[in-house]
Amino acid sequence: MRALHDGHGRSVRYLRLSVTDRCNLRCLYCRSNARQRCIPHAQVLRYEEMARMVGIAAALGIGKVRLTGGEPFARKGCEAFLAMLRGRFPDMDLRVTTNGTLLEPHIPLLQRIGMSAVNLSLDSFDRATFARVTGRDMLPSVLSALDGLLAAGIRVKINVVAMRGVNDGQMDDFVHAARSMPLDLRFIEFMPMGSGTLWSPENFWSADDIREEAARRARLIPVEAGAEAESGPARMYRIEGGLGRLGFISPLTNHFCLTCNRLRLTSEGALRTCLFADKEYRLRGLLRHPRITDEALAGVIRRACADKPVGADLLRARREGAAVAARQMVGIGG
Ligand code: GTP
Ligand code: 5AD
Ligand code: SF4
Repeated sequence: MRALHDGHGRSVRYLRLSVTDRCNLRCLYCRSNARQRCIPHAQVLRYEEMARMVGIAAALGIGKVRLTGGEPFARKGCEAFLAMLRGRFPDMDLRVTTNGTLLEPHIPLLQRIGMSAVNLSLDSFDRATFARVTGRDMLPSVLSALDGLLAAGIRVKINVVAMRGVNDGQMDDFVHAARSMPLDLRFIEFMPMGSGTLWSPENFWSADDIREEAARRARLIPVEAGAEAESGPARMYRIEGGLGRLGFISPLTNHFCLTCNRLRLTSEGALRTCLFADKEYRLRGLLRHPRITDEALAGVIRRACADKPVGADLLRARREGAAVAARQMVGIGG
């Protein structure tokens, strides 16, 4: 099988597919303007078009596909799409990143298609804080989805966007969750995405500070990078005497660009080779051209990969006052 390589010695094996830019939550770090217009339906790739792109990517060596959003389950037919992907790509490592609010009824399907892990965005176990962060009082539905996933034997990774003044007083809850449940709870440094972001040096809570705070409550045993860590950009720690693990994703203080293995396809069919680089390869028009071949589309993916930027130093970009990506997170899928 061929593999995709970029110009910096990295191989690209992971595709993040944003199936929709719509979401039923309004997380305060995700879009700066809640009234921002969603992409009109006609401009959103149809599931069949996305599946074709996955097939082309698979032939190029992509072995892992993650559905993101917005909220993937906010798009009608997401469940059937997952089943379609499993039918066509039996060996693909299929994943999903979801806010969990609409997830519970879909858990049997995830189990049936053998999804190995689900990433849940959950920034607080406190109902009032959850409502403040997301704009919706929906913590109970996320917690019952979490129970359902664990009961179904599906691995769970919780993503907590770390924000001073918002959830920095809740370390007891976070450590308790990772100690008492067999899951990975990963803190993510708040990233200043999109113009008008609420990010500020005051609400930035660094991975080192978070780890120090956690280490006051539990003995953290580092997991060597490698198979057991299997956690992409996160540095993982086992909790002594606990069932789960804590992890730290530090795009600002210790970025992981040198090992980045991913591509992104937005719901309107734009290929992005870096979360932060606004250069996009617009594939929708090409995909809808009646005579476009898979080979031609594969050629665009290969050329885009060859041009994948080496990375982005977000902290420096902020210090120098530079904008970090024009697009909002909700349109890229993280
Ligand atoms: P695993 O495949 O389970 O390791 O998940 P993941 O970490 O790749 O995906 P997830 O959707 O859970 O993303 C976790 C966090 O990492 C999100 O905040 C993402 O925005 C962030 N993240 C994912 N990929 C990148 C990346 O390439 N660069 C940066 N800076 N952050 C990323
Ligand atoms: N900074 C850090 N993480 C973010 N996410 C969304 N916006 C941001 C941001 N500005 C996270 C979500 C989700 C993941 C895909 O990205 O919480 O878990
Ligand atoms: Fe929705 Fe995720 Fe954005 Fe929150 S972070 S508004 S759950 S897309």
